[in-house]
Amino acid sequence: MLDEEDTYTIAWDAENECILYIDQTLLPGRYEQMRCATVDDLARAIRRLEIRGAPALGIAGAMGVALAAVRSTETDLGRFSGEVGRAGELLRGTRPTAVNLAWGIDRVLGKMALAASVAEAKKIAVAEAQIVAEEDELTCRRLGGFGEELFPERCTVLTHCNAGALACRCWGTALGTIRSAVEAGKDVRVIACETRPLNQGSRLTCWELLRDGIDVTLIPDSSAAYLMRKGMIDLVVVGADRITGDAVFNKIGTYMHAVAARHHGVPFYVAAPLSTFDLSHREADITVEERDRSELTSCGDRRLAPEGVGVLNYAFDATPLDLVDAIVTEIGVLRPPYTESFRLVGRDREVR
Ligand code: MRU
Repeated sequence: MLDEEDTYTIAWDAENECILYIDQTLLPGRYEQMRCATVDDLARAIRRLEIRGAPALGIAGAMGVALAAVRSTETDLGRFSGEVGRAGELLRGTRPTAVNLAWGIDRVLGKMALAASVAEAKKIAVAEAQIVAEEDELTCRRLGGFGEELFPERCTVLTHCNAGALACRCWGTALGTIRSAVEAGKDVRVIACETRPLNQGSRLTCWELLRDGIDVTLIPDSSAAYLMRKGMIDLVVVGADRITGDAVFNKIGTYMHAVAARHHGVPFYVAAPLSTFDLSHREADITVEERDRSELTSCGDRRLAPEGVGVLNYAFDATPLDLVDAIVTEIGVLRPPYTESFRLVGRDREVR
């Protein structure tokens, strides 16, 4: 029987040289750990959103490169590097918007480039992938600690999608700030938007908060602005898939919450690690993932729309930075003007 308390969302199985992960498509009905032993299987799991959420994708990218390395039978270092590099490209293409995926892949490939032999490269790949995973936990804890300071002693927080333990190795980013606030003794109630069409809010955020005994109430995405108008929301906190020099990319629907929050004078916060920052790009440079029409036209066996209808299914949207009151990172809380804050965190060379 799987011990739910002790299991990370994604982990490296050193004994069997493969990746272990919680299949998020099965939640909340089933909590099941899967094993992934090939890069093709990992690519499939990422495309199907069995593994999802920006930091978890970063870890998956890193472990995917390690997997390609340990499974390779090449003995020539040049050919070995070519094969692992191609595996990295395959994984990179699975989800184009969440920058952490490419970040995790590049980080391990970069370290492997220092190796003088295939055996050394394999060792480096596995070690670095494990470091990426371990760092994620520390990052979320630190970020949570900074973020909870933004929470009043008693408050109701709206969140969108799932930026929780399931989207990371554990703890979470947006939900990490909530967990840290609860841990600090604050009285926090959470309003979770269901997050159509794949319901990461109702399926995942509600599941993990309930499991931790945190007060959570589910709403349809479309009622968020009305609750703000009624004074029922004190702040909004969401995660991010990519932060460019001018915008925050996150799950589709985030932008409308930011617009509504600004209109109603509700603070809108983003919680994300520095690995989500992509300051050398602007919003217009980024490919927003479009997903299959079936996510909107059916639910299981039930048809939700007439056959032949046109469908536009963006997985993410971009919120301009002027609607973001603060960005919580593992090194502190960034405030506008962001060009200034980005410079202060030492990433100014890349800012566009
Ligand atoms: O399509 P998903 O479920 O991978 O989208 C996830 C999100 O949009 C999260 O909010 C984001 O990755 C931040 S996770 C800490």
